[in-house]
Amino acid sequence: MKDIVLAPPAMVRNQFETIRELFSKNVVPSYGRFDLALSHGSGSYLYDVNGRRYLDLGGGIAVCALGHAHPAITEALIEQSKKLVHISNLYYQEPQGRLAQALVKLIGPGKCFFSNSGGEANEGLFKLARKFGHEEGRFEILTTINSFHGRTLAGIAATGQDKVKKDFEPMTPGFRHVPYNNLEAMRAALSPATVAIMIEGIQGEGGVTPATPEYLLGLRELCNEKKLLFLMDSVQCGHFRSGQFQSFQRILEGVPGGESFLPDGVSMAKSLGGGFPMGAFWARAPYADLLGAGTHGTTYGGSPLACTVALKVLEVIENEKLADNARQTGEFLKSRLLQLSQKYPRVIQNVRGLGMMLGVELAANIPNLPGDPSKTQAARMTNLLHTAGLLVIPAGANVLRLLPALNLTRGEAEEGLKLIESVVANVAA
Ligand SMILES: Cc1ncc(COP(=O)(O)O)c(C=O)c1O
Repeated sequence: MKDIVLAPPAMVRNQFETIRELFSKNVVPSYGRFDLALSHGSGSYLYDVNGRRYLDLGGGIAVCALGHAHPAITEALIEQSKKLVHISNLYYQEPQGRLAQALVKLIGPGKCFFSNSGGEANEGLFKLARKFGHEEGRFEILTTINSFHGRTLAGIAATGQDKVKKDFEPMTPGFRHVPYNNLEAMRAALSPATVAIMIEGIQGEGGVTPATPEYLLGLRELCNEKKLLFLMDSVQCGHFRSGQFQSFQRILEGVPGGESFLPDGVSMAKSLGGGFPMGAFWARAPYADLLGAGTHGTTYGGSPLACTVALKVLEVIENEKLADNARQTGEFLKSRLLQLSQKYPRVIQNVRGLGMMLGVELAANIPNLPGDPSKTQAARMTNLLHTAGLLVIPAGANVLRLLPALNLTRGEAEEGLKLIESVVANVAA
């Protein structure tokens, strides 16, 4: 006969197990989650339900630009929610207009559309491109291998990674992928149906690879020559993470011809709301009125609450000079991580990225890497770092991403480096 073991009362059971059980019974298991249940945070620190503290260098996947529980965000949420949370896009409201004005000032002449996520921002750009090419029967958008553009049906078709498409075929038509940072491959792939090119300024999920200046300038020329829209997915690499508002502005710093560079469309999300879910796209002036009344929309996009928070995030970034901090603290992290890669080449193979968007590429087949061998090296290293008290984000099977808050201090960066070195040294021993 089967033993009947009564569950201990909830109070004395491990809180983590209780929460995990809630998930396993009630939440669609579409995410591979780590064994951590977090309850609150402050700045760059997060606390789990058992009271343990972690230094967060993952920033909720590049979202928490000001860290956790920033008082300016809390206050903006409270004050705006007392006035107006939502009205729909049937009416005008000041915060959306002011946020669009701020984003236009930061990118260039054009207009903005507001959505609720990065995937939805990209969907808007896909529709902009289709509208642009419709009369000529052009609809195809070329993207790059290892890109990531979201989990919607068009998003997975646009994404240059087979793993997101598997079992969801047939794919939405009109997307093809070519190697990244390869101008000739892009030129060779153009067809009479091509209407746009979309790239990330720094590939994120694909392993943190910045575009080269030649690639950006070459794609701009190619798009001018062939009458294509040049679209940039800045969902992850934008919003000052690189040290400039847009990664292309950082990559093209001091490069002849770079001052006048502008893409035709830019999608944004993640750090835009600092944790409040929102997205946006910017369309360059000649194309900014293509999507006329009734052609595109979303109920919640650009609500007064979301836009007030986003304006506050921009204000704090400016007042506290966080773009400079992203550049300086990011470069400090990168140079110290590069030193670690020289010291422990059997564990760290390479370090890439700009500012607060860094990728630590692990060596292939690290000997004796602890953890479940059915898991990727990146997942196993991430688990070891969690045990040491540090949060990072895996990108693919072999890269760890650091996407910390833009206000990460030098001291916190040093603390993170110490924790990384302790784990890496242990693995290397
Ligand atoms: C470059 C890029 N584009 C699009 C997306 C999708 O954004 P969201 O998850 O907000 O839909 C992501 C998310 O990681 C991303 O990194």
